[in-house]
This record gives sequence, C-alpha cells and structure tokens, in this order.
Amino acid sequence: MSSIELKNINKSYRTVDQTINIFNDLSFKFHQNKSYAIMGVSGIGKSTLINLISNLDFPTNGHILFNEFNLSHFNSEQNQIFLNESVGLVFQEPNLINELTVIENVMIKGFIKKRDLNYCKNFALELLKNVDLENKANEYPSNLSGGQQQRVAICRAIFNKPQFLLADEPTGNLDEKTAKNIADLLFQFKNEWQMGLIIATHDKNLASLADEILIIKDGKLERF
Ligand SMILES: Nc1ncnc2c1ncn2[C@@H]1O[C@H](COP(=O)(O)OP(=O)(O)O)[C@@H](O)[C@H]1O
Ligand SMILES: [Mg+2]
Repeated sequence: MSSIELKNINKSYRTVDQTINIFNDLSFKFHQNKSYAIMGVSGIGKSTLINLISNLDFPTNGHILFNEFNLSHFNSEQNQIFLNESVGLVFQEPNLINELTVIENVMIKGFIKKRDLNYCKNFALELLKNVDLENKANEYPSNLSGGQQQRVAICRAIFNKPQFLLADEPTGNLDEKTAKNIADLLFQFKNEWQMGLIIATHDKNLASLADEILIIKDGKLERF
C-alpha cells in the first residue's frame, strides 16, 4: 500500500508587499486504502495542498514523501512518471483537450506511457462504458455537458491505475444532481481500484462520503 506523507511542511507565498503563510509545520500521512476530504474556507490553502501533494508546487520548508521517495528529489523523468502513473488529478474544470475526441482524451496517459494502441482503445472504451459515455467516444468534448466532460476527465485521471486520485473541487461547477453523480463515481472507482482518494472540496455531501474529513486550520490539518 502506498502513502503520501507531509513532514513539517511550511508554505508561504510572497507578494510585492506581504508574505502569506498558508501551512505551518504541517505533518500528515495519507494512506492508499482511505479517502480524505480536505475542507476549510475559501483561500485557506486547499488547492495549495493538492498542488503540493502532486508536486506541481513546492513547500517552502519540509518535505513530502511518496512511499520512501522525496518528491523534491525527483528528476524531470521521475516527476513525469509520478504525475502520469502514481497520481491521477481531477480539477474543477475538466480541462479536456478540445482538438481530441473523447476516447483520445481518455487514452492520452496511455500514449505517454507508450502502451499498446489496442490496449489503450479497449481500456478507454471500457472506462467510458463504466461512466455511461461509450456512445460519445468519438465526439469532441464541446458536444458534451459539463458533467459528462468531468466523467471523461475522471476516466483520463485513472487510466494508468494510479495509487492516489487527487481532486480539487471536482463538483465545484456542477448542479446538485450532477455533483452527486460525480461524487458517487469517484468513490466507486476508489473502491474498485483501491486508490487513495484526496478531495479538496467545500461540498458537504461529497465530503461526507470520505473516511476522514480534514479541516485546514491555523496552517495545519485537523481531523473533524
Ligand atoms: N501562486 C500564488 N502566489 C501568491 N499567492 C497565492 C498563490 N497561490 C495561492 N495563493 C494564495 O494562497 C492562499 C491559499 O490559496 P488556495 O490554496 O487557492 O485556497 P483554497 O483552495 O482553499 O481556496 C490564498 O490566499 C491565495 O491567494
Ligand atoms: Mg481552491
């Protein structure tokens, strides 16, 4: 079982006239067999935490370990593999590539991993079937609703069976019914594939599905 461990993390942003301290000696270990909801008021650092865990942003002090590996020691190739295979990312916006079809959007991480083309096609179709979108496989993203696009984004995120699925406000742009559908899907895949799930959200319905609800307070993560 994999883990992501934050050790004595400090994070601050310096702007022209001030320093914003977001995390202060934050330590926490996430386990692959669990789901976590990260909550807290807007601007508190939820997105920053997801970005740190996915090595898209870096702590000011402290370090982050994926299993025994320090994320800050990854070279660019290791970092690419980490992002393509070890973690899957879902954001508020689906961020699909408009010039590619739905199935191509799902397969793209397989291309990066140089997987066999037929495997990629078949597996992408299987995933799309799972989210009831196999009939949209050859459409372009602009012909899909926001909720449908988010389902495609989830299929893309999990294509290489990552150990952790990280989501930043995945239901933030959706109406209540569609949000529920996306929330259920995240947990369905989490259970089927035994992925750790870390979701930054202020959606209480979504958060209530998680094994642990964590609140960012005073620069640390507190169990709710
Ligand atoms: N790249 C950046 N440069 C300066 N300040 C930033 C940057 N990214 C985020 N911040 C600031 O850090 C704080 C936390 O932001 P964020 O993690 O986006 O909060 P949340 O996702 O909880 O709404 C906010 O005050 C935000 O303005
Ligand atoms: Mg945010």
